[in-house]
Parts: sequence; structure tokens; C-alpha cells
Amino acid sequence: MSVVLVTGSTSGIGLATARRFAERGDTVVFNSIHSVEAGEHLAESTANAHYVQADIAQAEDCARLIADVLEQCGRLDVLVNNAGTTKVIAHRDLEAASVDIWREMFEVNVFGTWQLSVAAMPALQMSKGSIVNVSSIAGMRPTGSSIPYAASKAALNHMTTLLAKVVGPEVRVNAVAPGFIDTPWTQGWDAVRGYVQSVAPLRRSGTPDDVADVIVALASSSYVTGQVVAVDGGLTIAT
Ligand SMILES: NC(=O)c1ccc[n+]([C@@H]2O[C@H](COP(=O)([O-])OP(=O)(O)OC[C@H]3O[C@@H](n4cnc5c(N)ncnc54)[C@H](OP(=O)(O)O)[C@@H]3O)[C@@H](O)[C@H]2O)c1
Repeated sequence: MSVVLVTGSTSGIGLATARRFAERGDTVVFNSIHSVEAGEHLAESTANAHYVQADIAQAEDCARLIADVLEQCGRLDVLVNNAGTTKVIAHRDLEAASVDIWREMFEVNVFGTWQLSVAAMPALQMSKGSIVNVSSIAGMRPTGSSIPYAASKAALNHMTTLLAKVVGPEVRVNAVAPGFIDTPWTQGWDAVRGYVQSVAPLRRSGTPDDVADVIVALASSSYVTGQVVAVDGGLTIAT
């Protein structure tokens, strides 16, 4: 059985992913930044589970998160870097995409993911473990909720490949790039959902479980590293 840390796992894709690992009998560590009560409840109601509050954008929180995982579980086999943030800004509205917004996106989606991965690396090297980053098709195509968000996910995709190149053979690093997934994040995005349902070859939006299945598969695929796998119902091959 593995020890799996899923960041941002009180909601959406992270929650479905943590549950999938727990169903396999793995020890799961839930994490979130604000929803502490929900995280504690999940840890209590899931077998072999823990919860650690931490903001992945804070270096001290990342160090404490990994230290807590090792103290409570003794090892770390899989790190799922799912926590992320966005701002919806029309791509044409250049003034609205201020440098402060760029910083906010990169602080969590890129710097946070990087510093948690670095903090986790010694433990992952010991366990010959793996990282799965949760990116977005916005990092592969000129699309997404805003230009700063899309650029942060493009950076995350390249980080995935570059990191995979240097941390093998002990550690594998891959990413999933979800398309439109029904989570609290996309609640109310009805026009985009309708577009996806009409254009994607699979003719529907995605569920958190659709993404979780691929994350679990990548975490258990011993000869795959440095890959970014789109989980988008075929949207990127149709547009
Ligand atoms: N939904 C989509 O269509 C879609 C598409 C492409 C990519 N993605 C990516 O999928 C990931 C998850 O999205 P989702 O739709 O499942 O979102 P969600 O339902 O809004 O869940 C986000 C989770 O991340 C946590 N979180 C946010 N910032 C954090 C931080 N700095 N440190 C620790 N935890 C943090 C939140 O905790 P609190 O509740 O405590 O704030 C929450 O548990 C994101 O990386 C996103 O970019 C989503």
C-alpha cells in the first residue's frame, strides 16, 4: 500500500483523486487551504486518512506539510500536485490581466507546485515514488480562463518534463491536463460547458472521476515519465 498526498483535496478533482486512492487501500493525506473542517471530516470518515492544512504557495507550509506526512505515515510514495487557482479574465482585456494577477497565478500554480515537489523529493527518492501534476489543456492550447492562468499551466507542463528528466530513475513525474470538468470551480460556466458538449468527440463535460482515473493510472504506470496527458473528451483534437 502506498502513502499518497493530494493537495487541494477537499473539493473537485483533488477530492475524487484522494477517494480513488483510498478505495485501493492506500493511505491518503488530504490537504486544503481554507476548508479545514471539511478536510478534518474527510480524514475521519476515510480509512487510513489524514488531513493537513497548508497553503502550497508558502514555503514554510510546504516544509511542514511534508514533515507532517512523514511523521504520521512514515513515507511518501505519490504526490499529486492538484491545488491550483484561477481568475476569469477575457483574453482581450489586457489591462485587467495585471502583473499582480500574473503573480497570484504563478505563486500557486507554478512556484507552489515547484516548492512542494522539491520538499517532497528526498522522500520520493527513498520510496521510488512519483509525482502527478494537475495542469490544464489551457497550458497546451491558446485557451483558458485567462492568459495568466493559461501561461502558468504551460509553465507547469514544461516543469513536468524538465523535472522528469533529472529525477529519474528513482522518481517519475507526469501531468494530466483536464479539459472542462464539472467541479465547484466551473459552476455557472454554462456557455463553456455547452460549447464542450457540442464540439468534443465524447459530447460531454468531464467528471472529477474521469480525471482521477488517469491520475491513479499515471501514478501506477512504472514505465511512463515526463508525459502530459489530456483528459478532455477529445476537445483538443476537435478544435
Ligand atoms: N475544473 C476544471 O474544469 C479544470 C480544468 C483544467 C484544470 N483544472 C485544474 O484542476 C485543479 C483542481 O481544480 P478543481 O476544479 O477541482 O477546483 P476546486 O473544486 O475549486 O478545488 C480546489 C481545491 O484546491 C484547494 N486549494 C486552492 N489553493 C490552494 C493552495 N494555495 N494550497 C492548498 N490548497 C489549495 C482548495 O482548498 P479550499 O477549499 O480550502 O480553498 C480546494 O480544495 C486545479 O489545479 C485546476 O487548475 C480544473
